[in-house]
Amino acid sequence: MSSFAASISKVFHGTFIHSVSINEIEFIEGGLLFIDIHGRIARILKGVQKTQLGNMLEGVDEEKVIILNENQFIIPGFIDTHIHASQYSYCGNGHDIPLLEWLDTLTFPHESKFKDPDYARQIYSKAVARSLRNGTTSACWFATIHLDATKELVRVIEEQGQRAYIGKVNMNQNSPDFLIETTESSVADTRAFIEYVNATNAHMGTESKPLLTPIITPRFAISCTSDLLRELGRLAAEYHVPIQSHLCETSSEIDFTMSFFPNSVNYTAIYAEHGLLNRRSIMAHCVHMKDEEWALMKDVDAGISHCANSNFNIKSGMADVRKMIDLDLKVGLGTDVAGGYSSSVLEALRCSRTCSIARNPGKSLSIPELFYLATMGGARVMELGDTIGNFRVGKEFDAILVNTSVKGSPLDIFAHDTVQTKFEKYLFVGDDRNNERVYVQGKEVRVPEE
Ligand code: GUN
Ligand code: FE
Repeated sequence: MSSFAASISKVFHGTFIHSVSINEIEFIEGGLLFIDIHGRIARILKGVQKTQLGNMLEGVDEEKVIILNENQFIIPGFIDTHIHASQYSYCGNGHDIPLLEWLDTLTFPHESKFKDPDYARQIYSKAVARSLRNGTTSACWFATIHLDATKELVRVIEEQGQRAYIGKVNMNQNSPDFLIETTESSVADTRAFIEYVNATNAHMGTESKPLLTPIITPRFAISCTSDLLRELGRLAAEYHVPIQSHLCETSSEIDFTMSFFPNSVNYTAIYAEHGLLNRRSIMAHCVHMKDEEWALMKDVDAGISHCANSNFNIKSGMADVRKMIDLDLKVGLGTDVAGGYSSSVLEALRCSRTCSIARNPGKSLSIPELFYLATMGGARVMELGDTIGNFRVGKEFDAILVNTSVKGSPLDIFAHDTVQTKFEKYLFVGDDRNNERVYVQGKEVRVPEE
């Protein structure tokens, strides 16, 4: 056997669809894609006929080869740049309540239940399984303030095989007695959490890159004192870890925030002044931004998670994604469960389209732009643009094998359908029933049965 054949773990033959730029989707027909034992894309051939496979697959075990039919194709896995695992249990509820009241009456009481790690495992197992079934191969998760429960989330994600940024939430002010920390315990637990994830990765000891990353997660400036924000900025620098938070989601949130930070010129500056705004920062929403705030985001190359589903549902407003793209800011999609009603990035994509039509009539997002945001855009927001997001030799294989003709799925395929029309139908009509297989780092994920 050749050494190349020996280094291969899987080979796929069929149609591959991915973004090659924000304005261009490439449809690779007759694609032959080789995955190596570390889950990386080792070789991509195009225009290969089935009759040529015998020669091209010499030395590769038959059980490693997957041949797609004309109703199947492979796309990069979706990237959810903002989701709350602890909020999954009430996803779909509370959409008549505006943000700050929604936090007080619904979110905080639910999140307080995560002081019990057994309860946490129960909810987290379902949240992660649903996200994976929806085709999300990478996610930026918020947990809660609770260290043990957040470790439980790490274990659940590791068991199920998703690529993830995982954050223990920080809250030491403007929070109810049943969901608040001291500055000292917040900092100590965050440090302990980072070390726990790093140790988990070290134990796995494979040659493949770790899939789990701890992320610094101040809930938002309202729930953290200046002291705490500063300490969190220091931890981010000390451990070289990413940062996630909420920014400019609603007007009343902005007013309330500025009343606590009167010396800062704007909301974005608060994060910047505390060492929390840099190229590894992921700021959710950015609905009500001033020009100086866009400029600051651009200056430091911070990423934006566009959460259109949530912004419609809890009626926060419509973010100007066209402006983000025109300014060449890094932007991806976030489902923001449970502000958003669905952990499907397909739903986030559809809401983004509606949002862009309403916000920028005449300049709404194109299908290539929407697909890019759901995949490559998210990868860039996570600073993983060289690792995932599309199919390039050397990148890791995070992907969905889509079947457009699954019995019981919402899609109907007709004789006139082409590869392009099947793909568009999946984007706008399809759901998890069409996600036949989901791969992270070349391995099919282990989603528990419902
Ligand atoms: N701002 C602060 N916390 C939250 C949250 O849990 N969800 C949303 N959508 N916005 C927030
Ligand atoms: Fe959120």
